[in-house]
Amino acid sequence: MKLPARGRAAGKVILLGEHVVVYARPALAAGLARGLEVRVERGAGPLAVRTDAPVLAGDERPAALVREAAAALGIQADGLRVEVRSELPAGAGLGSSAALSVAVLRAMAAAAGRRLSLADELALGRRLEAIFHGNPSGIDPAAAVLGGCFRFTRGEPPMVTPLRVPRPLPLVVAYTGRGRSTGAVVAGLRERWESDRTAYERLFDEVAGLVAEAAVAVESGDVVGLGRAFDENQRLLEALGVSAPEVESLVGTARNAGAFGAKLTGGGGGGAVIAVAAEPERVAQALRGAGAQTMVAVVGAAQEEAA
Ligand code: PMV
Repeated sequence: MKLPARGRAAGKVILLGEHVVVYARPALAAGLARGLEVRVERGAGPLAVRTDAPVLAGDERPAALVREAAAALGIQADGLRVEVRSELPAGAGLGSSAALSVAVLRAMAAAAGRRLSLADELALGRRLEAIFHGNPSGIDPAAAVLGGCFRFTRGEPPMVTPLRVPRPLPLVVAYTGRGRSTGAVVAGLRERWESDRTAYERLFDEVAGLVAEAAVAVESGDVVGLGRAFDENQRLLEALGVSAPEVESLVGTARNAGAFGAKLTGGGGGGAVIAVAAEPERVAQALRGAGAQTMVAVVGAAQEEAA
């Protein structure tokens, strides 16, 4: 084994299409420059996993994840010391569990002296992320693996198309830190879908239409058009019943501060909101004034500021 070994993976934001992506509609996501790093060293005794993310303290899932990744790469997990350093707030909808899964996988592959193919990283990353989230669409590990901005449709294998970003997208992500469970929100939508598939399928198709429009906006540098698509997507997320009062309040704050558009992002965990704005710092300031933590993420220019 080649130790010490390291692995790194990116966090993500979903631009449009969360929830409908579970129902095989396309979604747009972007990898963040911020991510998470895993370092593996030789130790003594049983596997030890240390993480700097307070929400994962005492959580047994990171160790389960390391064991599964080690088994997938033919490595003995006992006797390893694993350290996780995250630049991503956990439970904020920024893909920290998928980033952890992919970073662990990459560190284990490095320890085994192997380089995994993209297809293997995507498939194994999704299998490992399921330790955290039941039956995810796989969009988060795709962002952790690929970075950049892309269209994603779930499947075996998923369909992933990178988007050209000719003009950097000035995005603001805001999160309250109060987590809701993505799994519970996904399960609630499934119940409603079961009870009226026709109505919900129509809403899913409407979101898919917006995703297509937004992809054109991204590729033509039309941030105003992207903002319009955000607003329409938020309206449909509310109709799907996956929004929340705190999300709608932050969306309103962002729009009042001059954002071109704003919507929830992710499953609802942490009440995360994304906005696109000409002056992202001004919008971020307004959102902080409303009690949220914020991050400015300029997708396509690979730099982000936390505040
Ligand atoms: O809560 P997050 O950031 O992991 O996003 C979940 C996205 C969903 O579309 C709601 C679920 C999924 O598996 O894609």
